[in-house]
Amino acid sequence: MERVRKYILEKAMKNKIYITTPIYYVNDKPHIGHAYTTILADVLARYHKAEGDNVFFLTGLDEHGQKVQQAAQERNLSEQAHCDDLAPRFTQLWEKLEIQNTDFIRTTENRHIKVVQNALQKVYDAGDIYADEYEGWYSVSEERFITKTEKESGAFRDVKKLKERNWFFKMSKYQQKLIDHINDNPDFIQPEHRKNEVLGFLKQPLGDLCISRPKERMSWGIEIPFDKDYVTYVWFDALLNYITGIGYGVDDEKFKTWWPHVTHLMAKDILTTHCVYWPTMLFSLGISLPKKIFAHGWWLIGKTKMSKSLGNIVDPLDLVDQYGVDAVRYYLMGEMVLGQDANFTVESFIKRYNSDLANDFGNLLNRVSGLIQKNFSGIVPECGQMVKEDEELKQLAKRVNELIIKSIRSLEVHTAIYATMELVRMTNLYLERQAPWKVAKQDLERAATILYVATEALRIAAVQLLPVIPSKAQEVLDILSAKETPSKWGSLVSGVALKTHEALFPRIEVEKE
Ligand code: MSP
Repeated sequence: MERVRKYILEKAMKNKIYITTPIYYVNDKPHIGHAYTTILADVLARYHKAEGDNVFFLTGLDEHGQKVQQAAQERNLSEQAHCDDLAPRFTQLWEKLEIQNTDFIRTTENRHIKVVQNALQKVYDAGDIYADEYEGWYSVSEERFITKTEKESGAFRDVKKLKERNWFFKMSKYQQKLIDHINDNPDFIQPEHRKNEVLGFLKQPLGDLCISRPKERMSWGIEIPFDKDYVTYVWFDALLNYITGIGYGVDDEKFKTWWPHVTHLMAKDILTTHCVYWPTMLFSLGISLPKKIFAHGWWLIGKTKMSKSLGNIVDPLDLVDQYGVDAVRYYLMGEMVLGQDANFTVESFIKRYNSDLANDFGNLLNRVSGLIQKNFSGIVPECGQMVKEDEELKQLAKRVNELIIKSIRSLEVHTAIYATMELVRMTNLYLERQAPWKVAKQDLERAATILYVATEALRIAAVQLLPVIPSKAQEVLDILSAKETPSKWGSLVSGVALKTHEALFPRIEVEKE
């Protein structure tokens, strides 16, 4: 009986997927880098939902700390007013990018402040927090004490000597436990080279983490519950958002539903905080560790990272206004290979748009609908006896469905997209080879089958692309009157009239210099 119960429970657990993005600093408006991680989370969430999984997708804003305080001061606003003013820039952009997050968290919300203070008290009561006078090099831009080696590397700006009494978290106590966990759970940190980077970092003795800031120096943060003169270090505060968002300490049922089936997505810049600070905090709190931490690469402009401080940011809104939301989502998801950096250029954007979306996908719709219009008065024809070539396309569609499920489980969105585009290209090739415009002159029944097969392959490709280009893929399904969205072959209904339509993705013509 116990075994059956366990089996049923495990089965039910399998379908719970909790996906998070970093919570972004509200020191400026969001750029393509922020949009990328959020779209990635959204695409993964949508693929999982299509597979029938239960998904909780959390994103939000990191509103405390020095960076935000400084940004507010520069604008002559109170910190809260500054955050309230900038927060809609993020939420409005997510709406425009058709992000379907389950919840949106802001660290200045009461629900979060309570969780942070409870967590601090718990860690303190466990004997893992102590006060100490510390003198060392402090990087104002990084908001933390840095080591002598870090200072000498020259990689840190605004470094000054600082002597201060602070509260420290005994991170070092959990060093070996963390190393063991990483070694015992090969999927915990992905991709592999990032895992090795973290293990390399853990070869050095781990110091303890300074988790407070004296109010007289930096007051914009959550007050330490056992010392009114201090606020919480922004990272200790921010990381806890991942458990606040699913009801930690408030709604046990909800928390247990989603934790620890979580995938934390981020770029490689915040690998250490997520792979070292966060797990050791969780150890101290007695909470199991997240299932997966995945760090993707950076969007670069030329050879440098796109970032506010370098002043080389691309505004996603400009791109969306010019080329449409689906084109932006498609480019970002298709262009970045899992775990590697990618270069953002308008040229590569236009090239990918024209070749994949206009030429391959958009053109397939045009051809299919034009041929059905001409030969079958716009009515989706019946599928007759299928021959070898038809079966081959059917089998390819099936294989692509399977490959997508596999790729999404290992977060390889670009592999999933390429697989669908291969189906699209093979369908275009199938049409060229089968030439239904010629066949229709002698054998209308065979022409009907060819067009049914090609249209069905197009419908399946559209279903497969729904998570990536939700609006345009839905448009295709509407044109085909495909109400339900199974990706199973044969679901296309014959006898219905195709809706008239414009070009799905009009080619972008670039003037030659
Ligand atoms: N507030 C912290 C995160 C706390 S999470 C508990 C923070 N915020 S941030 O605004 O700087 O966002 C960093 C994240 O934004 C990166 O990890 C990545 O997800 C995304 N990106 C920002 N710039 C990026 C690129 N140039 N390229 C790819 N992603 C980038 O760090």
